Amino acid sequence: MVRVKSPEGDDEMIRTFSVPEIWIPTEFQTLDSEEDSRCKLSGCENSHVSPRALAAIGSPSATLLRDHWNSQDNHLRKDLGELHDVHPDRIFLTSGALNAIGYAFDVFVASDTRVGILRPDFPGFRHFAEHSQADIHYLDKLEFPFTFHPDDVIEFVRTHDIDFLILSNPSAATGVLWDVDEVTRVLVSCPNTLFVVDEADSIHPDLSAAQLTERYDNCLVLQSFSKFYGLSGLRIGNLITPEVYRAAFSNTINPAELTSVAILAAQAALSDTDYQEETRRMVASSLATLRSALVATKWRLVETPRCFASYVWAPEPELDPFEALRVREVDIVPARAFGLERGGRINLSDPEKISRLADELEAMVPTTISANG
Ligand SMILES: Cc1ncc(COP(=O)(O)O)c(C=O)c1O
Repeated sequence: MVRVKSPEGDDEMIRTFSVPEIWIPTEFQTLDSEEDSRCKLSGCENSHVSPRALAAIGSPSATLLRDHWNSQDNHLRKDLGELHDVHPDRIFLTSGALNAIGYAFDVFVASDTRVGILRPDFPGFRHFAEHSQADIHYLDKLEFPFTFHPDDVIEFVRTHDIDFLILSNPSAATGVLWDVDEVTRVLVSCPNTLFVVDEADSIHPDLSAAQLTERYDNCLVLQSFSKFYGLSGLRIGNLITPEVYRAAFSNTINPAELTSVAILAAQAALSDTDYQEETRRMVASSLATLRSALVATKWRLVETPRCFASYVWAPEPELDPFEALRVREVDIVPARAFGLERGGRINLSDPEKISRLADELEAMVPTTISANG
């Protein structure tokens, strides 16, 4: 809120300050709503849940609901620390990666900060940048396959003298993941820029850049339990900071950030390696089905075995894949969610739904071919 003088005189009034809503490409469910028969491949959440996580919250006690719980749970931070080989003190638990993004902006971004955002990328970043009234600069890749090379980002950061660059890795639009060497190259090439690496959509914790926060002060890593760990409904994520910014985050993060149930389920899902392996198997199987279904079409895929998300696209004069699928009751995330014109993002975590999409593609092929002569 901003205090201003009224036009008439010296009475003070309060004016609200807000920016366009946070827009995230996900499916919100409504309790007690009726099932609908559409095949939903939008969103970027796991299609199944860890049996261990379910069991963990399956025997509730009254204290879990009644008491305040330490949101910075030591057990969970220790487990995450072991997974990523980082000191647990530098890990902060947050209400989803979304709040981790908010805290990153709270700690680093003011109105004169030069913020860099990629297009396409997770559309939610823009909201936080606008809310901070930052000086925003965009790096665009609006042609298929919409992917950024580390050198593109290095050049952009240098040219625009960017202070703070936030990007999803894997990309929330295409699913493409930079490996640790690629992230390192960017950090080393632009040592005066803070890079926020949002790993919310990763299905490979083993490929995380988290360890780099140990060696580089210009790297912050954000993660989520919503997707790979299947806990969107419980709102839990985390950030991993270099030691130099630990106090700033400790002072900023809401001490009552999390629910008890989220902490319990997250510990269980993190330990459920069978479930995690099964998820990766399902993604691989979906990709194989999709790949072979696309052979007979002119559609193209940004292949991403390290993420739930892949981006499907088709050149003119093909129908826009989003539209072509929509009329066949298959929903993918439309291109416009990412500032693109054609195609859309597909969730690969459910092979059965991908088979349905493959059947629809097969049924469409004669039309596709005749449209192109
Ligand atoms: C890149 C990215 N960051 C953050 C989020 C938000 O994740 P969470 O549910 O953990 O808040 C999402 C998912 O919508 C995402 O794709």
